[in-house]
Amino acid sequence: MNDRPKVLVARRVPAAVAERAAREFDAVLSDHDMDAAEAVRAAREHGIQGILSGPKVRLTAAHLPDLPASLRVIANPSAGTDHMDVRAAVAHGLVVTHAPDVLTECTADLAFLLILAACRRASDYARIMREGWRKPYGMPDLLGLRPSGRTLGIVGMGRIGRAVAQRARGFDMRVLYHNRTRLPPALEAGAEYVGSLEALLPRCDILSLHLPGGAGADGMMDRAAFARMKLGAVFVNTARGSLVEEEALIEALRSGHLFAAGLDVYRREPEFDLRLAALPNVFLTPHVASATVETRDAMGMLALDNIAAVLAGRPALTPVAA
Ligand code: DGY
Repeated sequence: MNDRPKVLVARRVPAAVAERAAREFDAVLSDHDMDAAEAVRAAREHGIQGILSGPKVRLTAAHLPDLPASLRVIANPSAGTDHMDVRAAVAHGLVVTHAPDVLTECTADLAFLLILAACRRASDYARIMREGWRKPYGMPDLLGLRPSGRTLGIVGMGRIGRAVAQRARGFDMRVLYHNRTRLPPALEAGAEYVGSLEALLPRCDILSLHLPGGAGADGMMDRAAFARMKLGAVFVNTARGSLVEEEALIEALRSGHLFAAGLDVYRREPEFDLRLAALPNVFLTPHVASATVETRDAMGMLALDNIAAVLAGRPALTPVAA
């Protein structure tokens, strides 16, 4: 008889993660990224005790009565958990976990890739080369902005925000930040605290968002916020698309109020607003901040560590506070 815990891996995962899941658990491995209804059905059918979940498993309070009584833990291999109703799941008696820390460096790298790409007009350059560069460009042509010496504003100075600040120091940038609370000086590492978003916006040449999504901050970058940014500033978002009113962003990019934007996240994914892709002054990536071999393995392994801990009666390593 198989007495290993029953675990549903409700999304495609890297091979090393799938192999470990199959070795350690009585695992049901999905060959696609399940949605919430599919995950609930599979959990019931197999008497599942732990789910390795994903962003398509948008679990709401309405799904909870259909989950089997055997289920103890939902492990998200992502930092963000705004795709599900964590409060309702925890009130239902489930442990919900996420994967902070392991994707900090990769997300900061991608934020910097977007900062450099937006400042240095990478999408124009790539388009010219793809189309077959034939005409010479002179001294006043194709000019971008030099990031070094400029002021970077970071909204949300958690681990990822601080990792971006660390990279900015290597580029001789001045770093300002806004956060709910001011950090202790050792964590600030020379970055200057600004008490409100309104006060931060007009002071930065480049603005980068690093705060979680969720109702409180929905649409915080709206028309008024973009208008407060400096003329010719650069906007970067690797956090959540819900933080931005995209209509207002498109207007600010079209009018030239913003020099450029670099985006990894969108209000609708994957069916993002194609008007963004038509703009010459944006550099876009498809929500891939954590997409390196090392980080995706680490995210999956941490989710399995959390499942193993909870099913063995130990505390979760990285629970989400409801
Ligand atoms: C996260 O971990 O929250 C990333 O955005 C990937 O979903």
